[in-house]
Amino acid sequence: MFFKSRKDDKPAAAAGSSPGQSASPGRAMVHMTVNGKAVSAEIDPRTLLVQFLREQLRLTGTHVGCDTSQCGACVVHVDGRAIKSCTVLAASCDGASVTTIEGLAKGGELHPMQEAFRQHHGLQCGYCTPGMIMAAIDIVNRKGSNVSEAVIREELDGNICRCTGYHNIVAAVRAGAAAMSGASRRQAAE
Ligand code: FES
Ligand code: FES
Repeated sequence: MFFKSRKDDKPAAAAGSSPGQSASPGRAMVHMTVNGKAVSAEIDPRTLLVQFLREQLRLTGTHVGCDTSQCGACVVHVDGRAIKSCTVLAASCDGASVTTIEGLAKGGELHPMQEAFRQHHGLQCGYCTPGMIMAAIDIVNRKGSNVSEAVIREELDGNICRCTGYHNIVAAVRAGAAAMSGASRRQAAE
C-alpha cells in the first residue's frame, strides 16, 4: 500500500541549504516551508508530496491509506488549504508553506481540533485521524465555526474511516469548530 522510495532521493536539508542551487540532470530542487521550517532537497521530479513528507522529512503522521485518491488519510495543508498529498507532486509545491499533523500542536498544547477528537472519541485505530483532523480544520476555515452536521458530513466525503461509523468524528468536528472559534476570540483579545 505504501509508495516505494525513490532510491536516488537525497535527504531533505534544513534551512541554510542553497535555494539558488540548480538540480542535477533529470532531478528537481524543491524548497518549501514545512511546519514553519525551511527545507530544501534534490528529488526525483515524480516524487509525490506524501512521499517527500514521509520518506525524506520523516513526518510519518501523514498516512497513506489507498492508491486511488479516495481515503483522505494523506490530507495536509498547502498554503492554508487542505489537499490530498498523494495527488500532488512535491515539485509542484516548490515555494509553498505546508502544514502536517505534526505542525498543529503549539508549546505542548494540542490544537483545539485535536483536543476535540480526543475528548469526543473521534478515533479508534487512529489511521484516518491525521487526515480527518487536517480536513476538519480546513472545513472550519472555509465554512465557519457554526458549520452544520449536514455540511460536515458532506465535506468529509473525501475522508474514509474504517472503524468509527463517523458519529463521533462529526461530534468532534462540531466541538473542534466551536473551540477554534473560542481560541481565535481569545487570541484577538490578547
Ligand atoms: Fe488515500 Fe491519499 S492516500 S487519498
Ligand atoms: Fe480507524 Fe478511522 S479510526 S480508520
